[in-house]
Amino acid sequence: MQWRTLGCILLVGVIAVTCKGKGHVSVILLGATGDLAKKYLWQGLFQLYLNEVSRGHTFSFHGAALTPPEKAEAIMFNSLKSLSCPADVEADRCALVKDQFLKLTRYRQLKTAENYTALQQDILTSLAEEDLHEAGRLFYLSVPPFAYADIARNINASCRPPPGAWLRVVLEKPFGHDYGSAMQLASDMQTFFREEEIYRVDHYLGKQAVAQILPFRRRNQKNLDSIWNRQHVDRVEIVMKETVDAKGRASFYEEYGVIRDVIQNHLTEILTSVAMEVPNNLTSSSDVLRAKLELLDSLHPLEGSRAIIGQYQNYVQQVREELEKPPHFFTKTQTFASVLIYIDNMRWEGVPFLLVSGKDLDERTSYVRVVFKDNAFCLQKDLARDPVKNPCKPRQIVFHIGHGELGFPAVLVSRNLFKPSLVPSQWQEVSELPNVFLFGQPLSDYHVYHPIQEREAYSILISNIYRGKKESFITTKNLLASWKFWTPLLEELESTSPRVYPGGSESGHLLDFVIEHSGLRFLTDEHLQIMGMEQKTNAFASTQSKFLKNTMVSNWAEELIEKLAQDIQSAADEAVKRSGSFHLALSGGSSPIALFQRLSRHHHGFPWKHTHLWMVDERCVPFTDIDSNFRSLERHLLQHVRVPYVNIHPMPVHRNQRLCAEEDLGTQTYAQDISALVSNSSFDLVLLGLGNDGHTASIFPGSQNGITGDELVVFSRSPIKPHDRMSFSLPLINKARKIAVLVLGKGKHDIVTLISRAENNPNKWPIFGIKPESGQLVWYIDYETLFK
Ligand SMILES: *[C@@H]1O[C@H](CO)[C@@H](O)[C@H](O)[C@H]1NC(C)=O
Ligand SMILES: *[C@@H]1O[C@H](CO)[C@@H](O)[C@H](O)[C@H]1NC(C)=O
Ligand SMILES: *[C@@H]1O[C@H](CO)[C@@H](O)[C@H](O)[C@H]1NC(C)=O
Ligand SMILES: *[C@@H]1O[C@H](CO)[C@@H](O)[C@H](O)[C@H]1NC(C)=O
Repeated sequence: MQWRTLGCILLVGVIAVTCKGKGHVSVILLGATGDLAKKYLWQGLFQLYLNEVSRGHTFSFHGAALTPPEKAEAIMFNSLKSLSCPADVEADRCALVKDQFLKLTRYRQLKTAENYTALQQDILTSLAEEDLHEAGRLFYLSVPPFAYADIARNINASCRPPPGAWLRVVLEKPFGHDYGSAMQLASDMQTFFREEEIYRVDHYLGKQAVAQILPFRRRNQKNLDSIWNRQHVDRVEIVMKETVDAKGRASFYEEYGVIRDVIQNHLTEILTSVAMEVPNNLTSSSDVLRAKLELLDSLHPLEGSRAIIGQYQNYVQQVREELEKPPHFFTKTQTFASVLIYIDNMRWEGVPFLLVSGKDLDERTSYVRVVFKDNAFCLQKDLARDPVKNPCKPRQIVFHIGHGELGFPAVLVSRNLFKPSLVPSQWQEVSELPNVFLFGQPLSDYHVYHPIQEREAYSILISNIYRGKKESFITTKNLLASWKFWTPLLEELESTSPRVYPGGSESGHLLDFVIEHSGLRFLTDEHLQIMGMEQKTNAFASTQSKFLKNTMVSNWAEELIEKLAQDIQSAADEAVKRSGSFHLALSGGSSPIALFQRLSRHHHGFPWKHTHLWMVDERCVPFTDIDSNFRSLERHLLQHVRVPYVNIHPMPVHRNQRLCAEEDLGTQTYAQDISALVSNSSFDLVLLGLGNDGHTASIFPGSQNGITGDELVVFSRSPIKPHDRMSFSLPLINKARKIAVLVLGKGKHDIVTLISRAENNPNKWPIFGIKPESGQLVWYIDYETLFK
């Protein structure tokens, strides 16, 4: 066979012996006639050959697809015509190597199991003929994910290289659609391949400025150590703006949207590079990947208020056309999103990381920008013009990934920070700076570094696959950790309407946003006019009437929560004025969560410092358990407000390493705490809910304890899991000055209707046992409950 021999002829007289000794590498590119192959992969493989041909391995390249050779060969070789060499390669050498490469490249049909067996035979036979041993085999799957399993089965069944040679299988995104589907795909792959054989590509990790983040952090550790943290970093922006829209890709885009398309993968990968702890040994893939996983695991869980979303105006029309939908078809798919992420660790706690991306925006650019706090005061005015000596100019470090006004990949460091060090053989300082402003500053305010040779991401990644540098790829664990983080938000956003924007520069300030109360908010309200809708009134108007002889406040859920929050704040102000503290007892369950979130967002002026928080009831589970009421309170309220630690009173359900054991006297302990701290055991406000069976607190129908009697706190049993509970007794609740019962949602319609007619029997309907001794009971019931 001529092809491998040719691979070595080139080397005769140089290192022909090594060539034979190091063995042969077969590259099989599936999807060889596709767009990605045409645009990047063949060029990447050619670049690999160009770099490696004189270093020892021999190569053969098999372009493969489902189509028979008669049809596909011409298409494939046509896309090979445009292969090019970097500028520093002499034309003669380039032509020679390209000629070699073409001779080493074959088209193969890979459709049936027989086709794979035949490939195996061909490889083995020709290697035997040449007396070459096999070093490794690289299968690059540039095919849609639904084809993975089939191909994987065939590779495993008949195309594994002989023992001693490596197998690397490269996969292209999407790697699933959410946590469940990613898990499914991953486990499919794991039945055929070992983890070390799988290379999932995120091509952003091959972008030069992105690949430079970790080495930069390592080389400049001395300067960065003291400032790469929450004391000094104001915020981090990770941005990918596109001018193109989704035209022509509507069927893909409808299923994915901007978060799945680029934020869950590219921007999240960048986030990990910026924020992870840099391992001591950057050449150890496993250390790097472990540090990334740790970072992914410490991301603070997302919720709807952390994201704002948009959709360009023509999108719906494009989807209607491409997917043949009727004229009344609408979709909530996001084409723009900005997500605010916090990281729960000592280094980054409280620092906003903004991940922003969208289509049909005003410019094409992508960058990471680390903005440092502006906390210096400069007295002397003459120094103001000198960027080096002036600590009052903005300080930032920018990894400019591409495009934008700068037009090239770059690393920029404000001159008033430090002069950075980058690998001198790869990056150089730009001396002739273009006359552009970047983030409000002339380029002369920065040290600007640029790669000596610009390289395509795919050529870098293909070289990393060949070298087995796994840290540039996505492991199964890291992939699943990322999906685990993103999936709840994606589910929440399914029912959220995106803001419609006209697209391009016409969008004006429509997509501008601010960080507010640990969430994101659009700056303007204009979208309502654009969509031809009327502005919703924000005026607060709620109906007051009677329910079961007590006051009832009713409204739409959002307004109702707002009113309850206001009433709680009034009660708090009054209590603090009267007695110096406010004792608030809160119930578990899902209804209060919206209230907690409301209180946590608009808490300015609330006397948190003087507030004591008690639990009305708790489930007998550890506090870390997802069912724990305290955990929910912690997540939705406590971590956002400044309640002194000693004022927080979780129920002692977990003592002596067991849950709610009578002998541990948890109920007595809690009762004693209440007696000791709350005068007359009379809470200033107790917030209750109403269960579908008429239960309130955790006192369920037919309960033995807690309906009457002297006990303040009791153990109880719920008909639904987790069964064991600790709860305030109804007599304790009845001592309160104010009792609020919050009832939300259609699901509560039936019980509310029922108890409005039922006999007043607390054993059957514990809610009837709520009869304040001298305080006031107010029902907060939303319209959905009342009118379904
Ligand atoms: C692939 O397999 C099919 C069915 O076995 C066969 O008809 C076809 O010739 C094979 N293609 C090649 C290139 O061997
Ligand atoms: C992978 O291939 C091996 C060897 O042919 C075979 O024993 C094994 O069952 C295959 N695995 C799966 C999941 O098909
Ligand atoms: C770093 O990791 C690489 C790869 O695991 C290893 O070969 C090398 O010895 C390590 N270096 C140090 C200093 O530990
Ligand atoms: C406590 O209860 C007693 C008797 O009901 C009452 O006289 C007293 O005013 C109460 N104290 C407070 C601080 O509410």
